[in-house]
Amino acid sequence: MESMSRIEPERTRLRDRMVGGLRAEDHGTRLRLAGWVHRRRDLGGLVFVDLRDRSGLVQVSFGPDWTEPASLALAHDLGHEDVILVEGTVERRPDGARNREIATGEIEVRAVRLERLSDAATPAIPVYRTAEDALPAEELRLQHRVLDLRREDLQRNLILRHKLVLAARNYFDGLGFLEVETPILTKATPEGARDYLVPSRVHKGEFYALPQSPQLYKQILMVSGFDRYFQIARCFRDEDLRADRQPEFTQIDVEASFVEPDDILGWMEGLVVALSSVAGIDCGRPFPRISWAESMERYGSDRPDLRFTLEISDWTAATADLEFGIIRSQVAAGGRVRGLWLEGGARLSRKEIESIEAEAKAAGAPGLLWAKRSAEGLSGTLGKFLSPAQADAMGLGVGDLVVAAAGPDKVTSPALAAARMAAARALGLQPVREHAWLWVTEFPVFVEEDGVLAAAHHPFVMPHKDDVGLLESSPLAVRGTAYDLVYNGTEFGSGSIRIHQPELQRRVFRVLGLQDEEIDTKFGFLLGALAAGAPPHGGIALGLDRIVQRFTGSGSLRDVIAFPKTTAARALFEGAPAPVGQSELEALGLEVTSRKRGS
Ligand code: AMO
Repeated sequence: MESMSRIEPERTRLRDRMVGGLRAEDHGTRLRLAGWVHRRRDLGGLVFVDLRDRSGLVQVSFGPDWTEPASLALAHDLGHEDVILVEGTVERRPDGARNREIATGEIEVRAVRLERLSDAATPAIPVYRTAEDALPAEELRLQHRVLDLRREDLQRNLILRHKLVLAARNYFDGLGFLEVETPILTKATPEGARDYLVPSRVHKGEFYALPQSPQLYKQILMVSGFDRYFQIARCFRDEDLRADRQPEFTQIDVEASFVEPDDILGWMEGLVVALSSVAGIDCGRPFPRISWAESMERYGSDRPDLRFTLEISDWTAATADLEFGIIRSQVAAGGRVRGLWLEGGARLSRKEIESIEAEAKAAGAPGLLWAKRSAEGLSGTLGKFLSPAQADAMGLGVGDLVVAAAGPDKVTSPALAAARMAAARALGLQPVREHAWLWVTEFPVFVEEDGVLAAAHHPFVMPHKDDVGLLESSPLAVRGTAYDLVYNGTEFGSGSIRIHQPELQRRVFRVLGLQDEEIDTKFGFLLGALAAGAPPHGGIALGLDRIVQRFTGSGSLRDVIAFPKTTAARALFEGAPAPVGQSELEALGLEVTSRKRGS
């Protein structure tokens, strides 16, 4: 840990060094050290304290032969997490007394003097734990974040976060990108989530929106001629929270002028190499690229985990002759039969196959069909309908298993994507690579949600030049110049080339069903800016929190954010959100008409 958090110089007016870097070479040095009482062992005559600061731990010993009497008395009285100042001498430990578990285990500090700088209340959650002690429940840890943040894991995560941000800033600076701050009190920028709104006191009844991203500002900076922009940008989205989402999070946000996708992808690969090396991760480049359509066809997902090579096959033709009602009706309705060939999968038990099916169902499929081929013959919901020749046509050899879904792609793709990962787990597949980076390109510009056309990402994506003519006639077929960066199955970032012609931008808004008046109210400032002479431009944003989470192997985004929100969007430590008083509401011209019970 100390190499990650080296402070130069460590000396302040109160202390000479931090503790984590003390080594046998310091033997005989007299020093003042300061920090927290991590652990205290009182042996009657002698007292041992593990003194902790950000850099690590050191053992400090107090004894009648070397500690001043008043200080020794105080050492007997120390409690966990008291803040102390110690003056003493570094001593090499005798051979048998070395502690290989900690970096400073070759030495101890013999304390001459002790001063208590702060008397700590009994910690509500323990900071000192043995390797066997379980962590307290997360809710409790979030309530007592001040103590939880003293944990080495969290400190290490935040230190790495800092190093990654610093590396990103240096990287972009080296390429001539400028960091420009964009406003937090803004006008709504659509990114697909709800806005957090801030009421204006001066203009009652009017609201600022917190930015879902700096998207429009960065585009406007391009029109203003800044050429290359980046920002470590805080974004706010009021959306259903999942493990990989926080209501406020940080993007590494990028935009550049006179670019094509290759420019952005090349720069971002360079960034990923720089960040990976800070995190001690090896990463090869260039990253593979596949189109969105191909990714959906082969993996059922737009963010496939390519640590595993399993791919989806199309068995519509191979199963065309089967007298199987579900298949017949789904194919007649325009669907396909697609599935996964699992080599050696016949060894999976029925229960294990059902656990794969359960994941497919959770992803929206009514069920999975399966066929197993063993020396005894074919079995399974699909297998019992198959002849050996039909099984051969599907590649189903003795010892193998296939799982399949019949239906429209929009149902079977997510189901098979979920089944793919569940099968990899059930079969105990070894990853073919540890770090699977991937670009998924040519995302569609539009999607249909509940029969309504919506922007697949945001409405500023430049349509593929060959598809502009399809905008009005078949919008769902329009590919965008949009790309996502995927790492081990997680979407790390998303970007596109933007529309820079105001007429084309207006056309896209109209395709989305916006009337001209609404377009002008909501986006007039953007259209006005584009009309001022806009360069072709594009960019991307990476999710910093997700990167730090993956690079530190943390289980949750909450472990890489100093003060995170719960999945119910609450800040438990400081207690937010919270009701406000009547007079504050009146000053804002607001009235609360419904309150959740209990709040
Ligand atoms: P997008 O909405 O895809 O793109 O966001 C970019 C990246 O930000 C991360 N991310 C999140 N991380 C944590 N919690 C969240 N709630 C959350 N939402 C998103 C993801 C995601 O890939 N303006 C565009 C970018 C562009 O086109 O340049 C945008 O915001 O890692």
